[in-house]
Amino acid sequence: MTPAAKLLLFCMSRDRYVRRPDTDTAASNQTRYVGRIFNAMAGEYDNLKDPWYGYTFAEIERTIRRYFRPTSIGQSKPTALDIGCGTGLQSLVLAELGYKVKGIDIADDLIAIAAKKLSAAGFADAHFLHADAEHLPFEDGIADVINCCGPTLSFVPDWRAALKEISRCLKPDGKLLLEVEGKWTADIIWELIDAVTGNSLDYDSSPRQAMKQFLPPWTIGHHIEYSFVLESGTTVRMPLKLFTASELRRELANAGLRIEKRWGLHCLTNLLPSTVLHRADAGRLVRSIFYQLANLEHLVHGVWPFNALACSLLVMAEKKR
Ligand SMILES: C[S@@+](CC[C@H](N)C(=O)[O-])C[C@H]1O[C@@H](n2cnc3c(N)ncnc32)[C@H](O)[C@@H]1O
Repeated sequence: MTPAAKLLLFCMSRDRYVRRPDTDTAASNQTRYVGRIFNAMAGEYDNLKDPWYGYTFAEIERTIRRYFRPTSIGQSKPTALDIGCGTGLQSLVLAELGYKVKGIDIADDLIAIAAKKLSAAGFADAHFLHADAEHLPFEDGIADVINCCGPTLSFVPDWRAALKEISRCLKPDGKLLLEVEGKWTADIIWELIDAVTGNSLDYDSSPRQAMKQFLPPWTIGHHIEYSFVLESGTTVRMPLKLFTASELRRELANAGLRIEKRWGLHCLTNLLPSTVLHRADAGRLVRSIFYQLANLEHLVHGVWPFNALACSLLVMAEKKR
């Protein structure tokens, strides 16, 4: 089935996304909704041509290669879990580093691509399952490292439960690489400019919605409806939880995880509106400014306040003993 046909089916289905779920049923409807959108993206996910995602995925890969390199390979391979593995972009990197990879996701079509990708690369021991991050199908302390990027956690209705599950599955001293959506970014200013200039930048928000982002509480992230244009031209919306840096530190600590390092991705590249950078047909001038900003960002993205005021908050955390 083509991605466009899947999208049509998804739009016609009855259990549509329910905003602000306050019951288990609403939360699982939301999870199914998100899964269907990602399934509809299966045909294009690995070919996203916009500068924004290319840069994000390259930075995550670079961080995994640098910090997740196993120190010694014993008789059996160390285990890596990939939570919200999608098409296996990071699963493949982990397998190449020498891990036995177990990936989970709620989007079957993406899992199928991940399984095929790793099998084609010769990693027969990689294993992928349909599962929800809120209920991981793994025993306690199974993982040496866990990757949860993309930013999967921001899509999970009960993200606190998912953090506890991640912590449960990590060995003591095991490492987590986590990426979530940040609350404090230049995008909230771009969104406001967009709203008062008749949506010239495609943020698609009313002035009231745009203003709401500036209101308290300032240290806790809120939910937004993230709109995304598929290559077919169809706009889809997904619920997305934004985090502040202090909230993330606190919530990780509550789950028994301590942050060791953190970086802010798109702290400086967001001096250009993200909607412009999400376009596959972003022109040469836009791309050139973007890459200059990205080079500058490399110098500062691990330093406060740049690691806190960014569209993607990337953290390396360790499971406390
Ligand atoms: C943007 S993708 C990231 C995939 C991959 N980590 C990457 O960086 O390419 C987010 C993934 O999270 C998955 N996801 C969303 N909610 C989830 C949940 N509750 N449990 C497991 N996976 C979930 C989606 O299906 C999607 O594949």
